[in-house]
Amino acid sequence: MTAIGGYQAPESEPGRLGVHSIGEFVLSVPAPERAADFYGAFGLTVADAGDQVSLSTADGYRWGRVVGGRRKALHHIAFHCFEEDLPRFKAHLEGMDIRLLAPPAGFDSNGLWLMDPDGLAIEIRVGPKTSPDGKALPAALDAEAGARCAPYRRDAGRVRPRRLSHILRFTPDVERMLGFYARALGLRLSDRSGTNIAFMHAIHGSDHHVVAFARSEAPGLHHLSWDMPSLDSVGLGAIAMADRGWKMGWGLGRHVLGSNYFHYVRDPWDSFSEYSFNIDYIPAATDWEPADHPGEDSFYLWGPEMPPEFIFNAEAAQG
Ligand SMILES: [Fe+2]
Repeated sequence: MTAIGGYQAPESEPGRLGVHSIGEFVLSVPAPERAADFYGAFGLTVADAGDQVSLSTADGYRWGRVVGGRRKALHHIAFHCFEEDLPRFKAHLEGMDIRLLAPPAGFDSNGLWLMDPDGLAIEIRVGPKTSPDGKALPAALDAEAGARCAPYRRDAGRVRPRRLSHILRFTPDVERMLGFYARALGLRLSDRSGTNIAFMHAIHGSDHHVVAFARSEAPGLHHLSWDMPSLDSVGLGAIAMADRGWKMGWGLGRHVLGSNYFHYVRDPWDSFSEYSFNIDYIPAATDWEPADHPGEDSFYLWGPEMPPEFIFNAEAAQG
């Protein structure tokens, strides 16, 4: 693969080329059956087919699969593009001297497969735009005077994530990943804190970040973030997970970069799933001005003290 340098903003012109969404992630773990318990409790619809567990939201969209493997690692991420852009991507990637690969065994597709600088297989395929086309404004938090506002706990029900929002990965070289994802996939930098962490959005309208990279000694999955319909649903999700024994995590808090309210729950493989509410939205027509922020703004605005295991890279520890 051609060496790809640091981040440069892609040209901002009509017809610019870029993926519009995350289509699906595939996670490889030693005991995929544990995924059904965790993600089922988290609020996803799980289907355990023996050799793999699929993870869907209530609308039936499958966001991820968990497959068996010797060690925990992302197996690949599929990004979606518009149909007319797939041949453009093929020419674009070939023009960059990026080697197109055969699909991995068991994942035959008509998409384009390539390897990112951290050795993760990436697919670009035609698929639905799963990133939102606008910002879903939150429901009012208050009730009229003279009426009860909070629901009874017995009526609160089970919370369900609406969609996958973003994937944050550890990487030894944030700058190199920014360069690759900007030049090869057409993502754009949203915000960063030096070379420690950076957030990227998709150019056809997406959340403040669909992918993000945090510096570590080795590649790894840090968290999957799931969009929730309300702040209440973040809190209800957190307490429901704790009731089921999934107590480790971090929250409730609010991020500065992305602005979302969060509660993270540690998964069986020492990465996290995030309940996220009200993340910033970057419309296609907005030329978002990225900024380099001080470290204190890269973690949170408010919340409990961050537990040390939150920045533990289990995949680095696997060797
Ligand atoms: Fe997140």
